[in-house]
Amino acid sequence: MPERTEVVTSQPRAGAPRRPLLEVVGLSAWYGEAQVLSDVSLDVGSGEVVTLVGRNGAGKTTLLRSVMGLHKQTRGSVTFEGLEITRRTADARARLGVGWVPDDRGIYATLSVEENLLLPPVVHEEAWPIERVYESFPVLHERRDFPGTKLSGGEQQMLAMARVLRMGARMLLLDEPSEGLAPVIVQRIGEIIREIKGQGVGVLLVEQNVKFAATVADRHYLLAQGRVVEHLDNRQFQDRESELLTYLGM
Ligand SMILES: Nc1ncnc2c1ncn2[C@@H]1O[C@H](COP(=O)(O)OP(=O)(O)OP(=O)(O)O)[C@@H](O)[C@H]1O
Ligand SMILES: [Mg+2]
Repeated sequence: MPERTEVVTSQPRAGAPRRPLLEVVGLSAWYGEAQVLSDVSLDVGSGEVVTLVGRNGAGKTTLLRSVMGLHKQTRGSVTFEGLEITRRTADARARLGVGWVPDDRGIYATLSVEENLLLPPVVHEEAWPIERVYESFPVLHERRDFPGTKLSGGEQQMLAMARVLRMGARMLLLDEPSEGLAPVIVQRIGEIIREIKGQGVGVLLVEQNVKFAATVADRHYLLAQGRVVEHLDNRQFQDRESELLTYLGM
């Protein structure tokens, strides 16, 4: 079967009961003998932005990699659009519309912006056409002939997000998108996340920047030593901002 050319079509969902876009139940993960996630359960709806906040080493990246199917030493279940994907490969999950944006952004340094956007295959009918990508990310249009190496950190982050939307992601897994970026660029990333949310895409956002998290997210999970220790709506999160800043050592 041609693995990489198949375009997945969404099933009609009219009248179906509302269910989360992404549902993680009882997820545990190990590196060899070392357990780094314990019984994590969380969900993200369509058009919802949910953060994963926790200290360094809490297990945030491992959780995103497990949802993507890149980390395999796990137990528990991952369901996407009602379909259990726990045993599917990362490639199969991408084809269903799960998009991973790694903390190093994963840009092809020697390729141009446009080549970075066009190289990965379109995998889902809801893929953004290149024109729509450029409309939402005008800076990528301006820089379309620039090689990846010539982009600023913020532009690389935008390119990494745009690339998975162009492939057809309905759910973005963003690993610390604001890290190392100037406040004005972080603000722009926030605007883009809100715009993506407005298009019905779900976002699971790993974030250490509490102030930024509070401006973009609907709900927050606090992860400590691989466990969810708090689940807060954005109001509760904002009320506890200074406590969280201290906890995270910010
Ligand atoms: N490849 C690996 N082999 C062994 N242990 C690992 C590996 N990757 C991560 N770990 C360990 O797993 C735990 C969780 O790491 P993870 O990278 O998921 O945390 P994180 O919350 O993303 O941290 P950070 O804020 O530093 O990005 C840490 O104790 C880390 O040392
Ligand atoms: Mg990490």
